[in-house]
Amino acid sequence: MKKSIGPEKIKTAVFISGKGSNLKNLIKFSKLKQYPFSIDLIISSTSKAKGLKYSKKYKIEKKIIILKKKKIKLVCLAGFMKILSNNFIKKFKGKIINIHPSLLPKYKGLNTHIKAIKNGDKFAGCTVHYVTSKLDSGKIILQKKVKISRKDNHYSLSRKVLKKEHLIYPAAIKKILS
Ligand code: GAR
Repeated sequence: MKKSIGPEKIKTAVFISGKGSNLKNLIKFSKLKQYPFSIDLIISSTSKAKGLKYSKKYKIEKKIIILKKKKIKLVCLAGFMKILSNNFIKKFKGKIINIHPSLLPKYKGLNTHIKAIKNGDKFAGCTVHYVTSKLDSGKIILQKKVKISRKDNHYSLSRKVLKKEHLIYPAAIKKILS
């Protein structure tokens, strides 16, 4: 991974499929001096993703497959619900990271909170990790635990975890770039 030297920010693309709360949060942090990345491109797997509104709001380009042209050095998957091709992963080896709503290696894939509650787990959480061709299996960058209370259902748990996601995603980017 290219490290950030001096004031120059690392150009980053964020991939989304949904409402984009992680995207919005990363944009917010990217504007702070201490965070060495800028968000230069938003890529969505669907034109229906609510998160695309942030393209207009923050004047960030949203297009597909122009990563090279935009000199993108880092790709952040943020609720991106498609599996990337092996070819793409190879091309951006070591430069794609993802946030996943579980304490990996536990609960790869979908419905992580439902599984954690059903299994009577005491903790849930989220993980930022490098993306490899094996689903949710790359090296872990940061992870944060959340206590599951007896009152939690998967909605309340996902809200609690999302709050932690918004803390660890920018921190993880900072960690790998500085
Ligand atoms: C987040 O909880 C993220 O961890 C999860 O989707 C949500 C997206 O929310 N990602 C995955 O499940 C990836 N397999 P957002 O659109 O508000 O950032």
